[in-house]
Amino acid sequence: MCGIVGYVGNKPTQPILLRALKKLEYRGYDSAGIAVLDRGISIHKDTGRVEILERSAPMFSGVIGIGHTRWATHGEPTKVNAHPHVDCTGKLAVVHNGVITNYQQLKEELIREGHKFLSETDTEVIPHLIEKYYAGDLETAVTETLPRLKGSYAIAVIAKTENRMVVAKNGSPLVIGLGTNENIVASDIPPLLEYTNRVIYLDDGEIGIITKDTVKISKSGREITKSISVVDWKIDDVEKGGYDHFMLKEIHEQPNVIRKAIINYDPSLTPMVGGDFWGNKGGKGLLILACGTSYHAGLVAKYAIEELMDIPVLVEFASEVNHRERVIPAANAIVLTQSGETADVLVSMKKLKAANCSILAITNVRGSSASRLANKTLYTQAGPELSVAATKSFIAQLMELYKLILLQPVVNEGLRQQLISDLRLMPNYAQQILDNESHISDCAMYLSQYSNLFYIGRGINYGIALEGALKIKEISYIHAEGFAAGELKHGPFALLQKDTPVVAIVNQDSTYDAMLTNIKEVKSRKSPVIALIREDDHETEKLVDMIIRVPNTHSMSSPIVNTITLQLLAYYAAKYRGCPIDFPRNLAKSVTVE
Ligand code: BG6
Repeated sequence: MCGIVGYVGNKPTQPILLRALKKLEYRGYDSAGIAVLDRGISIHKDTGRVEILERSAPMFSGVIGIGHTRWATHGEPTKVNAHPHVDCTGKLAVVHNGVITNYQQLKEELIREGHKFLSETDTEVIPHLIEKYYAGDLETAVTETLPRLKGSYAIAVIAKTENRMVVAKNGSPLVIGLGTNENIVASDIPPLLEYTNRVIYLDDGEIGIITKDTVKISKSGREITKSISVVDWKIDDVEKGGYDHFMLKEIHEQPNVIRKAIINYDPSLTPMVGGDFWGNKGGKGLLILACGTSYHAGLVAKYAIEELMDIPVLVEFASEVNHRERVIPAANAIVLTQSGETADVLVSMKKLKAANCSILAITNVRGSSASRLANKTLYTQAGPELSVAATKSFIAQLMELYKLILLQPVVNEGLRQQLISDLRLMPNYAQQILDNESHISDCAMYLSQYSNLFYIGRGINYGIALEGALKIKEISYIHAEGFAAGELKHGPFALLQKDTPVVAIVNQDSTYDAMLTNIKEVKSRKSPVIALIREDDHETEKLVDMIIRVPNTHSMSSPIVNTITLQLLAYYAAKYRGCPIDFPRNLAKSVTVE
C-alpha cells in the first residue's frame, strides 16, 4: 500500500506535497516522488524516506501537483519504479495506490501499439492507457481508461495544458479535502487537516474532477452529489507533540483514550447488537475476523464472550477466510480493523455479506471502507494513529469490546458490575504502568541484547502473549514468538536455552498454578524469565529473573495493563537497538492490497 496526494490551489505546491507525503509515510516509505504542473510537468523521484526526496529535489514552480510515498508491490524500490509514472510524451503523470491485476496483458497490448515502458510496475500502464484515450480532455480519457483496469486503485492524474486534477477510486481509500481557493486529495485524513476538516469520501467507481475552486464527482459518466463530512481530528493529533516517536506519544495517550471510552458509558443502554446477533447457544456461533494486532484483540474478545456469554466464537485471519471454498458457517461476524482499509478484511467482508452474514465493524476511522461495508459500525475513539505498530487503537478496540459484551443481558450481573467498576478505574491503572516506564525500559535494555525471545500467556492473556511478541518483532527486529504457555512442552521447548529469554504474563486467575509450573519448566532449561506479575503476587517473584508489576485489575480486564507494559517493553528494546520505530522496514500501517 502507498500514500498518494494531490493539490490544486494558488500556493506553490511542492512544499505542500512534501509536507503531506510526510503525514502519509506510515502507509509506505521505501521510495517517493512528486510531479508539479507549470508550463510542463516536472518530476522528481528518489528512494527512501520523503526527507531524502525533499533534500534531493530541485525547486519546481507550479500550483498544481501530485505526490506519492511507496510500499513496493511490483518492482523493487528504485527511482525508476517510484511514482509518479508518465506516458510516452510526458504530458500526463499518475500516482497510484493499489494493484492493477491485469497490467501484464495491458502492457503487452500497449507495447504492440508502440508504447515504451520504463519501469517494472503495474501502475505504469495507467498513464499509457490514458494517453491512448486522450483527445484533449483528461476527464474523458480517465473515464474511458478505468473500465480497462482490473484490481484496486486510488489514482490522481495531472496533464499538461489542464489546470485541474482528475482522481478516481476502486478499492483503495481516497478522500478530498475542501479548502478555500484550494483543494487537496489524499489516501487518508492526516495531510488534509492543515487545510480543512470538511471532506468528501470517494466511493468505488467514482471520479473527482478538481480545480482550485470546484470539485465535481461523477459516476458512470453522470455527475452525482456527495455528502460532506466534518472530521473531528485536529492538526495536533497528527503531530509528535514533543515525543521522539509517534509510537511513544500514542502509548502515552492511552489513559485518555480509555477515559474517553468509559466516561459516558451507561450500562443500561440498549446495545448496538442484541441477542440474535451473537448466534444461538449450540447453534451457529459468532465469527471474529481481523489481521495483525486487531486479530489479537479478537482472541481476547473470544475468551470474554465465551466466558461471559457462553457463546462459541471463531476467530479467523481475514486473509485465510478470503480463499476458502466454503464461507465459514457463522451466524454473524464482528470485524476488527483499526484503519478500516485493510484489503484482506474488506475482501472477506464482501464474501460474508454475500453469504447473508450480518457484520458489525469495530474501526477507528470514520468513513473508512469497512464502516461503509458493514451493517453496523462501532467506532473506537483512539484518534489518528500514525505509528505503524498499533498501540492505542488496540486498547480502544478492547474497551469497545468489553463495553459491548457488558451491555448484553445474559452477562452475570455481579460480574458485570465488578468489570464495569474495573474499567472505570482503568485510566489510572494505565497511568500506573506509564509511571513505571523507567523500570520497564531497564528490562527492555536487558531484552534488547538477545535475538530470540518467547512470550507466554494463558487464558485471556494468550492473545496478549502473541501481541507482545508481534510488537517486539515489528519494531525491534528481534525474532519473538508468542505461545499458549501450556504448548511450550509440546515442541518449542527444543529452542529454549540460556540466551532465549521468556516473557511470561502471570495472571492470578484459574491459570495461575499452571503458569507457575510452566515457568519452573522453562527455568529448568536455563532460559531467563521476565514475568509480568500483579502487585500482590509474591510467589512468582521467587522463580524468575526479573519482574514487572502490573496493577491488580480484574483478571478479565488484565489484557489492558499487560499490553501497555509489553508495548513499552518493545518500544524501549527497539530504541536501544536504534531501530526506526515509527517506520519499521517492510511494513505499512494498513495494507490495502491483498
Ligand atoms: C498491518 C499493521 O499492516 O495491519 C498492523 O502494520 C495492523 O499494525 C494490521 O495491526 C491490521 O490493520 P487494521 O487496520 O486492519 O487493524
